[in-house]
Amino acid sequence: MELARDPRPAAPNTGANAALLQEVLARHANEEGALLPILHELQDRLGHVPADAVPGIADALNLSRAEVHGVVTYYHHFRSEPAGRHVLQICRAEACQSMGADALLSHAELRLDCASHSTTSDGSFTLEPVYCLGLCASSPALMLDGEPHGRVSARGLDALIAQARSEK
Ligand code: FES
Repeated sequence: MELARDPRPAAPNTGANAALLQEVLARHANEEGALLPILHELQDRLGHVPADAVPGIADALNLSRAEVHGVVTYYHHFRSEPAGRHVLQICRAEACQSMGADALLSHAELRLDCASHSTTSDGSFTLEPVYCLGLCASSPALMLDGEPHGRVSARGLDALIAQARSEK
């Protein structure tokens, strides 16, 4: 099904990231299936996909804003808001679930006072469930600031959180 195009002109991207957005668009705009590579590069370089980037992306790819927004929100990987200083990703895929990942995630939510897919009120941690980190043999697994950890217990998670907090 084709979605209707948004007839309004794209809002100007006046944020500090406008130049970066233009650079990314220029690199990918003529590629087939450019939307995901553009979103991935923005997320990699900015830590999120800013909402004010959506109109420019839609214009460059001749898509509606709704289509771009739909893809950003469909994939949990993409964040619309900046992440906290630390990003804690807990695997919820099958092998980790069988080894207590759901309990570990609940423990993290309690310990951080923060729901999944959100950031603590002090901006120190973003908590995200993810689906397979490639550490299935070391379940339950998590990633903290890009560093993988396997066979993590609740106590081990507390230690990782305390260490990250001490590093600020
Ligand atoms: S299922 Fe968790 S790392 Fe693969």
